[in-house]
Amino acid sequence: MRTLELRGKSVVLVDQTLLPGKLKFIKCNSANSIARVIREMRIRGAPALGVAAAMALAVAALNSGTKSGRALLHELRRAADKIRRTRPTGANLFVGLNRVLKAALKAGDVEEMKWVVVREVRRIADEDVRANKRMGRHGARLIKNGATVLTHCNTGALACVDYGTALGAIRAARERGKRVRVIVTETRPLCQGARLTAWELKRERIPVTVITDGAVGHAMERGLIDLVMVGADRIAANGDAANKIGTYTIAVLAKEHRVPFYVVAPTTTIDMGTPTGEKIPIEYRASREVEFMGGKRLVPKGVKVLNPAFDITPARLITAIVTERGVVKPSELKEFMLGR
Ligand code: MRU
Repeated sequence: MRTLELRGKSVVLVDQTLLPGKLKFIKCNSANSIARVIREMRIRGAPALGVAAAMALAVAALNSGTKSGRALLHELRRAADKIRRTRPTGANLFVGLNRVLKAALKAGDVEEMKWVVVREVRRIADEDVRANKRMGRHGARLIKNGATVLTHCNTGALACVDYGTALGAIRAARERGKRVRVIVTETRPLCQGARLTAWELKRERIPVTVITDGAVGHAMERGLIDLVMVGADRIAANGDAANKIGTYTIAVLAKEHRVPFYVVAPTTTIDMGTPTGEKIPIEYRASREVEFMGGKRLVPKGVKVLNPAFDITPARLITAIVTERGVVKPSELKEFMLGR
């Protein structure tokens, strides 16, 4: 099952806000509707957002009535501007848009442009799955037989086109015959860990236990965790990594308890144009996500709420970064990306 797919002139995607209760697919026929589902977190996870952004341009192209290549390019640029304003932290969304726009520039007329855009989008989606499988292979080597892995948020097939990044490594270890257990944080406020990771792992029959975000210190102190594997939304050139809020706390605890802390992410998440984590824009989301749970008010009316969606884990707390091209220490990231 792919989390999102280009079908005809539409994008069909899993509505992740309904899981684990309901597995429902929704259809988007315009870049505007894709921008909306991204903002509403119906589709989320850095690699999936990269592909959704690219698909938004394909849908814009396929449904356009314009007869001139220049006019279509203009429409695509306007659609890309809209998508760019949805979620600022993840690198992949911007990479996906730029790749499609660059491909479109090479086309001569409207029909060729539509064809080129669709071809590029299909390539991006297929490359995502391939990269995840490669990452899985590298990541699986870091997981010993019988290990318990702590993960945060959702880095599975739902966060990508298929297979997953950190969850992909866990899946790959299992496919290689290793016994693996997973502990996942619930990941407040939107509970991607409790809702999505637990749902995916249950389907895969990988043993999983959900803990509250606040229970990580206790679990480490009791020796319940052998290693941490998380994803990333953007990795700066110095190896600092932005990921779901709460990741930094886990990394500090991992250091204190000498638990290896791995970030598993494709090279498309590594942004060499952003020198350090400090320069990564952090998305702040609506306070109602914290104020309410399951439709019920938790926070008294009128009390201030701060809802950062991501935090930055400094490179010094990261044992290694697992990519589709291999495993690298954050301090060696620049040479690695230059292919040295
Ligand atoms: O706000 P979300 O759910 O989009 O955040 C997702 C994460 O932080 C993931 O850990 C990250 O995108 C890596 S997904 C392979």
